[in-house]
Amino acid sequence: MDTLEAPRTILRTSSRICVLTGAGVSAESGIPTFRGPGGLWRNFRPEALATPAAFARDPILVWEWYQWRREIIAAAQPNAGHFALKELEARAAAFTLITQNVDGLHQRAGSRNVLEIHGSIWTVRCTVCGKQQANHDVPLPALPPRCACGGLLRPGVVWFGEGLDTQVWHNAEKAVRAAELLLVAGTSAVVYPAASLVPLAKSSGAQVVEINLDETPISDAVDFSLRGASGQILTELLQ
Ligand code: OAD
Repeated sequence: MDTLEAPRTILRTSSRICVLTGAGVSAESGIPTFRGPGGLWRNFRPEALATPAAFARDPILVWEWYQWRREIIAAAQPNAGHFALKELEARAAAFTLITQNVDGLHQRAGSRNVLEIHGSIWTVRCTVCGKQQANHDVPLPALPPRCACGGLLRPGVVWFGEGLDTQVWHNAEKAVRAAELLLVAGTSAVVYPAASLVPLAKSSGAQVVEINLDETPISDAVDFSLRGASGQILTELLQ
C-alpha cells in the first residue's frame, strides 16, 4: 500500500484529470455495493433482476427492485468523497468524472462533467417508442410505469448483456486518453468495458491512482494503490 504524498503532488500538478468511480464511493452514503459484504449480488441474482430477459419475463418484479433502490438512494446524501471530487473539478483545468454509479450522487454533490456509463436510475426509457426521460417519482405511482404512448417504461440503466451508450463511452475513452491522471475510486474493477479504462490510461501515458478498501485486480497495475474509505482518502488527497 502506498502513502498519500506522491499522489497528492500528482493531483496538484495535473491539469487534465479523469476519475472513474464505482459503488464503493457511495457506500459511505449508505447505498449498498454489488460485490462486497452486504453487496446486492450477494443477496440477489443479477440474471433475475438486471437483464433484458428478466424484464421481459417479470417487469413488475424488476421494477419493485429498482423502486426499492430508488427509495434508498432518494433518502441518501452525498458523502465526503462526492464533495471532494466536486472540489477537484473546480481546481482542474480539464476534468471528467466517469461513473459506473446510477445513483446521481455526484451530480447532487455539485459535480458537473459526469459521464454515467451505466446510465441513471433516475431516467426511464420507453420499450416501444424509445423516448428517454427523467423520472424522480418515489414511489412510482404505478408499477410497471408506462409511457405517454402506452408502452412499458424500463429503468434507464445498462443491464448485463447490453452495450453502453456509444456516445457516452466514446467521450469516456477520449477523456481518459487525454488525461495526465486517472483516479479510480471504489470499484472492484471487474466489470468491462469500464475496467478497460485503466489499461487505456496507462497506455496513453497517464498516472493511475487507485483508492479502495481492498486490493483489486488492478492494484498491481496502477502507479499508486491507496487503501481506505474513499471519503477519507479523497479528502486527505486534496489537502
Ligand atoms: P462493486 O460492488 O463490484 O465494488 C465496490 C468496490 O468498492 C469494492 O472493490 C470495495 O472494496 C470498494 N469499497 C467499498 N466501500 C468502499 C469505501 N467506503 N471506500 C472505498 N472503496 C470501497 O461495485 P462496482 O465496481 O461499481 O453494473 O461494480 C461495477 C458494476 O457492477 C456496477 O456498475 C453494476 C454492477 O453489476 C451494472 O449495473 C451494469
